[in-house]
Amino acid sequence: MNGPIGRVHAIYPGSFDPPTNGHLDVISRAAVIFPLVTVAVVVNPQKRDPVFSLDEREEMLRRCTAQYPNVRVDHFRGLLADFVKESEADVIVKGLRVVSDFENEMAFAHMNRALSGVDTMFLMSDSAYSFVSSSLIKEVFQQGGDVRRYVPPTVLEYLQNKRHSTGRK
Ligand code: PNS
Repeated sequence: MNGPIGRVHAIYPGSFDPPTNGHLDVISRAAVIFPLVTVAVVVNPQKRDPVFSLDEREEMLRRCTAQYPNVRVDHFRGLLADFVKESEADVIVKGLRVVSDFENEMAFAHMNRALSGVDTMFLMSDSAYSFVSSSLIKEVFQQGGDVRRYVPPTVLEYLQNKRHSTGRK
């Protein structure tokens, strides 16, 4: 811990493939609480090959968070705990959508604290986005569904461009 709350640096990690309004809601609320928030994009998500490149995911996040002067966007490879230590961050921030998120996140929080000494703080996702995930957005969009309520306009553009460039429906 670097010092009082006035200097706390928070890291909000994720795959952001792509960012959703649920992510943006957590970022906007974290930016009110913490003087510095680093949105940290994992280079290689473990679940799957990302649809969007690292550059695209970072660019979407930069454009969608440009209004927050205390939010910056970065990326990391390997363990989050190592990135947290390198960044001299004080806290990890995560969003919790549903109770089942908590089971995984509790294990991650214990492990990240054991590895880095840094605690994880959870924000309850806005109930409007409790069912929204990047993978669900991609699936619905690829099948022609309307996802405008769930992603920022910038992300919608990226989804549309990706569809055109890959020739997918
Ligand atoms: O948006 P996601 O996919 O839910 O984010 C998951 C993420 C990136 C936060 C998590 O997979 C992660 O921290 N990956 C880095 C590798 C790591 O540190 N694994 C051990 C976690 S205790």
